[in-house]
Amino acid sequence: MTQSAKALILEQVAKYHQEVAPRTEFIPGVTPVWPSGAVLDESDRVALVEAALDMRIAAGVTSRTFERKLARAAGLRKAHMTNSGSSANLLALSSLTSPVLGDRRLRRGDEVITVAAGFPTTVNPIIQNGLVPVFVDVELGTYNTTAERVAAAIGPRTRAIMIAHALGNPFPVAEIAELADQHGLFLIEDNCDALGATYQGKPTGTFGDLTTVSFYPAHHITTGEGGCVLTDNLVLARIVESMRDWGRDCWCEPGEDDTCHKRFGYQLGTLPAGYDHKYTFSHVGYNLKSGDLQAALGLSQLERLEDFGVARRRNWQRLHEQLQGVPGLLLPRATPGSEPSWFGFVLTLTADAPFSRQELVNFLHARHIGTRLLFAGNLTRHPAYLDQQFRVAGDLTNSDIIAERTLWLGVYPGLTVEMMDYVAASVREFVAGR
Ligand SMILES: Cc1ncc(COP(=O)(O)O)c(C=O)c1O
Repeated sequence: MTQSAKALILEQVAKYHQEVAPRTEFIPGVTPVWPSGAVLDESDRVALVEAALDMRIAAGVTSRTFERKLARAAGLRKAHMTNSGSSANLLALSSLTSPVLGDRRLRRGDEVITVAAGFPTTVNPIIQNGLVPVFVDVELGTYNTTAERVAAAIGPRTRAIMIAHALGNPFPVAEIAELADQHGLFLIEDNCDALGATYQGKPTGTFGDLTTVSFYPAHHITTGEGGCVLTDNLVLARIVESMRDWGRDCWCEPGEDDTCHKRFGYQLGTLPAGYDHKYTFSHVGYNLKSGDLQAALGLSQLERLEDFGVARRRNWQRLHEQLQGVPGLLLPRATPGSEPSWFGFVLTLTADAPFSRQELVNFLHARHIGTRLLFAGNLTRHPAYLDQQFRVAGDLTNSDIIAERTLWLGVYPGLTVEMMDYVAASVREFVAGR
């Protein structure tokens, strides 16, 4: 009875999707061309409603299934869902402060190398843990840093490297992982904008000790809000799980008890012997969990990760072909040896361009073509960071150029080739008119 009512509802949900799904007809200058967005289909809507019908409101079996499948897709052993990519970054970096790591743990005042031209929550966990960010510059074109810059930034207090693959374009992660290895540094790959990319034939996220993903709607797959920490290292995975789940020492799933058969058999800290393991805390943790509604959507989206990547690459390639040779614009390029999973199409105005970024943005916006900046441009120039303790290794010349002359256009799978052609034609028309 319940089952048939459910089947009926889900059938109606699929029909409803057909009714409300956005029309695909593109009217140049009228239909918005967003820089990013989620691509949600009938199966996503059905998956989400089904999870709601089952009242799977907390993290449970669907979350665990999603974590397992995501780990497999990412080429790693363990995945822990979080409520955002920012939480994933906080969790990944915080896990490196765990006492479980003994002498290798990060301690207050230790340095972590990162880039200034990026998203704030790649860097914030460094500050939030009382560590010191060391900023290095990036290249124009790839918008990534180089192994040489990172090598030059390593000092006596440096203990880790935490860098994002810029807008889907891998940083030279094999070389930087090797450097980390030589110097005994941890490496965290923020893969929030690059899920599905490869470097030297290996998926990004599989080179470092830990990696993070975001499932915010702008990203390669979405769960609404959401993120994940992944690793091959089982010790780090245990720490991540503990820190994500209030800092607890116990690993029983909700609704489970005594899976270790020792629930009342431990003596930890200075607690009385037999203190309930469920309420024993081995980390100063958080609650950064996500839930099964998000996981249900994630499972459905994961089915299309590859197709999404193909569409992103197709759109990026289309813009690249059509914007060749346009004066005043530096076109983006893939990091040598990589296959990016593009998040956006980055343009930097040359120093002698006879137009400003704002003029280009205004022209495109008047045609309902959305643009974005390369996140913070140069983080050290933002109000939040002026009084923070940090070190700059070398100079941030290119980060300043990015803050002043760079923007990006959308390539997400919801955009069609027709839209890409319109965007390219609009950029060309703007430049020709200057
Ligand atoms: C590189 C990078 N890291 C982390 C994040 C944070 O992800 P979230 O918005 O899910 O917190 C973003 C957000 O877009 C990002 O671009």
